[in-house]
Amino acid sequence: MPSHYARYAHKYYNYKFLPDDVVIMTHPKCGTTWAQEIIWTMRSGCQFNTRLELDVRSPFLEFDSLENPNLKPLEGLVEEFKARNPGKDPMEEGLYLEIANNTPSPRTIKTHLPFSLLPPTLLDTSKVVYVARNPKDTCVSYYHHQRLVKCTEFQGDFAEFLDYFTRDLITQGPFWHHVGQGWEKRHHPNVLFLFYEDMKEDPMRELRRLNDFVGTALTENQLRQVAEHTSFSSMKSKSSTNPTQAAIEVGRFKEGEGEFVRKGIAGDWVNYFTPTLEEKFKQWVARWRHVSDQIPFKYSM
Ligand code: A3P
Repeated sequence: MPSHYARYAHKYYNYKFLPDDVVIMTHPKCGTTWAQEIIWTMRSGCQFNTRLELDVRSPFLEFDSLENPNLKPLEGLVEEFKARNPGKDPMEEGLYLEIANNTPSPRTIKTHLPFSLLPPTLLDTSKVVYVARNPKDTCVSYYHHQRLVKCTEFQGDFAEFLDYFTRDLITQGPFWHHVGQGWEKRHHPNVLFLFYEDMKEDPMRELRRLNDFVGTALTENQLRQVAEHTSFSSMKSKSSTNPTQAAIEVGRFKEGEGEFVRKGIAGDWVNYFTPTLEEKFKQWVARWRHVSDQIPFKYSM
């Protein structure tokens, strides 16, 4: 994590989760935004027409600790903060933490923190939806993301990024440590463990599982509408889920590096992995075999 994570670590570790919170927990680039839009929509009684930014509706718990303090946050978030906290300075208090605190229940909270950095009692209180994605596509997706966001503004090519990734030096890693903690808890009654590739393969099947787990009691017809509303093309076309242009305008994203909602497929890694990179990746997976052997990732559809 960036060094200023230390300022917030205890706040996250002691965070007061509520019984009706649903926490979406992921390693970055594993389908967080997709899961957020699905679950928030289901829990909002199918509000398909909201224009509110997804991060306002479904707060990103620890983003203050990842933020580059020199960048301007999205205007919509600042306005929302000021409306909810008159007289307070968003940069002093922790803008994203305050948004999480003030989000009306039932909250659908996003976090990239693994179980070990959150309260040990989390599952006694709240439900967690853990979403995992095969590490090759995660690595490709993260590479593009880190080039896009000014927070990091990664300058290297994919081979260089993969080198950091497989040395476990990327922010919010190591990948296997994160996913291993989620996998270990997959049978807990308050955990639903989903794979991105399964959501791609059969969205309705995964929506039904979510409907049961979250307790939203939506009909088949409503679930079909949610699936349509959260399809890749639909989410790419809306600024509330794909705020690329707005983020470029406030200087948070770099122009010419593609979009936040990018390609949305399983198996894009074949376009990036040379035999040398494949070998390096294999060695990394082998080093983590105590975790990697257990998790049945799908690398293509
Ligand atoms: P790609 O970069 O491979 O396209 P996260 O939300 O955790 O950052 O994950 C981002 C990844 O999820 C990106 O993958 C993004 O395109 C993909 N994604 C976002 N919305 C999606 C959707 N509705 N269907 C499928 N993939 C989606």
